[in-house]
Amino acid sequence: MTMRKSRSLDVGSAHAIVTGGSSGIGLATARLLAERGAQVSLIARGPERLAAAAKELSAASRAADVADQPALARAIAELEREQGRPCDILITSAGLARPGHFLELPDDVFREMIEVDYFGTLHAIRAVAPGMVARGRGSVVAVSSAAGLIGLFGYSAYGPAKFAVRGLMESLRAELTPRGVHVGVVFPPDVDTPQLAEENRWKPEETRAVGKTIRPLTAEKVAAAIVAGIERRRFVICPDPGTRALARFGSVLMPLLNREFDRRARSVAKAAK
Ligand SMILES: NC(=O)c1ccc[n+]([C@@H]2O[C@H](COP(=O)([O-])OP(=O)(O)OC[C@H]3O[C@@H](n4cnc5c(N)ncnc54)[C@H](OP(=O)(O)O)[C@@H]3O)[C@@H](O)[C@H]2O)c1
Repeated sequence: MTMRKSRSLDVGSAHAIVTGGSSGIGLATARLLAERGAQVSLIARGPERLAAAAKELSAASRAADVADQPALARAIAELEREQGRPCDILITSAGLARPGHFLELPDDVFREMIEVDYFGTLHAIRAVAPGMVARGRGSVVAVSSAAGLIGLFGYSAYGPAKFAVRGLMESLRAELTPRGVHVGVVFPPDVDTPQLAEENRWKPEETRAVGKTIRPLTAEKVAAAIVAGIERRRFVICPDPGTRALARFGSVLMPLLNREFDRRARSVAKAAK
């Protein structure tokens, strides 16, 4: 195995592929990369939002479901051909969250979270990693979540998928960094996007109480942290101080946070009696 020292990557001359690039964090990141001069390619399912985003950013795009490995691999290969160059930066932002009480969530939701949030990330990385390793350069950044750092009330389906993304990226950091590839994982807290609006429709009251002091970030703030993380070759990318503290001192903070979160959840249960 050839070990290479990580080479820095010029964002402005890169080809960046963004899954989930038609909305929210993915779109804001794609927009920032395009503003910085990168050649941008977008992947998502819904053709209308995808076409609008691609038009705005003068980007290439392909509609594909990230959970469908052959379709995703085909989309990435086609985008590389259309752009006339391989992928230098991969951002995996495609994902969805469905909170709910564990005892009430339908079985298929647990599978869907893993299929889209975890396997959707894995399939995309497996499509570009061999080329990046062969070239000895590139950057792979996966969007996990603060729910991938701590188990939260109501996130028994979503949280494990985001923990899995974190576990994957921790292994890849160890394996791919010495081969010249930057590996990063992003832990956003609540972010004001269409996903959060959808998620809010399903949140149990206890989950709302637990998160009541969190003010959602803008997608642009998360995008700025991601692009800075690529430029500085950061592994852990946290767009706010609270999540940064959780990522750094999780095992120390967790008992304190759990005590407070349990108190908030209990107060909801008490009020319902
Ligand atoms: N918003 C938050 O509070 C928050 C917090 C922490 C982490 N995150 C994570 O950040 C990432 C982006 O979320 P967001 O808030 O920006 O959501 P968003 O605005 O809903 O955007 C999600 C994007 O992913 C695409 N997508 C969803 N399922 C897909 C699939 N199966 N195949 C291909 N594309 C798919 C969507 O397009 P189509 O639906 O058209 O396919 C869209 O482009 C997600 O992984 C999410 O879990 C979000």
